[in-house]
Amino acid sequence: RSYEYILTSKPKPGVGQVTLNRPKALNALCTPLIVELNQALREFNSADDVSVIIVTGSEKAFAAGADIKEMAPLTFSDAYTKSFIESWSDLTTQVKKPILAAVSGHALGGGCELAMIPRSSSVLIPGAGGSQRLTRAIGKSKAMELILTGKSFSGADAEKWGLAAKTFPSYEALMDGVTKTAETIAGYSKVAIIGAKEVVNKSQDLGLRDGVEYERRVFHSIFGSQDQKIGMKAFAEKKKAEWTHQ
Ligand code: HXC
Repeated sequence: RSYEYILTSKPKPGVGQVTLNRPKALNALCTPLIVELNQALREFNSADDVSVIIVTGSEKAFAAGADIKEMAPLTFSDAYTKSFIESWSDLTTQVKKPILAAVSGHALGGGCELAMIPRSSSVLIPGAGGSQRLTRAIGKSKAMELILTGKSFSGADAEKWGLAAKTFPSYEALMDGVTKTAETIAGYSKVAIIGAKEVVNKSQDLGLRDGVEYERRVFHSIFGSQDQKIGMKAFAEKKKAEWTHQ
């Protein structure tokens, strides 16, 4: 399938990759780009041969934010009645498979909300969930400082605060590292990794007692999978598990 603003590929077995590809605008996230991104993620989410998804941009820009030229003429009634930005939520809520964001270069405003690295501009506040997700990720005082000042920060800061899992010294090292991580994840049972993502994400919505209970329920449900039997048998026999992903 060919898209206008993104590229899709399968760089390794089990790994789907979406590359934001609007170089003229440093991957500014116009609505048609988000529509294509949603479509590609939905396809990877339902593809049997994909277990984990990488979302990346270019070396220079992951994404320079929401499209300012698209937003400039927008009125309140347009934004409100057409639920501007709401489709961005699909990205996070409708994909069960793990998504790794490989971020190099600019990741500003909504670009960052996409990668979970928000920055406010002088006229806007976060609109794609940044104020809620960032606060949960790095705590209230740091999030308040970043959102109120709109200050940029480095990947090293993001890693130090626990906002980014890992940083790399170069773009090549980033893409190599993220692909290796994706391969590791794709080497496990799909049933287990989807369950693992679900329970980790639930921790953002539930209190500890309910979260632990939820985890236990999903844990119990894994015993209904073929892969649980396959994995534990392979362990006992000191063999490599051949997953059926069922
Ligand atoms: C539309 C953008 C854009 C954007 C860059 N471009 N960012 N177009 N929306 N967010 C366009 C420029 O207009 C320019 O187009 C081309 O991309 C290259 O950009 P330059 O500015 O020439 O590049 P450079 O000098 O390298 O500067 C890079 C930059 C700068 C520092 C990233 O472009 C910049 O400050 N962009 C805006 C970043 C920003 O404020 N993002 C937050 C948006 S608000 P032409 O046609 O001139 O070549 C937001 C909040 C969302 O995201 C809340 C809800 C989700």
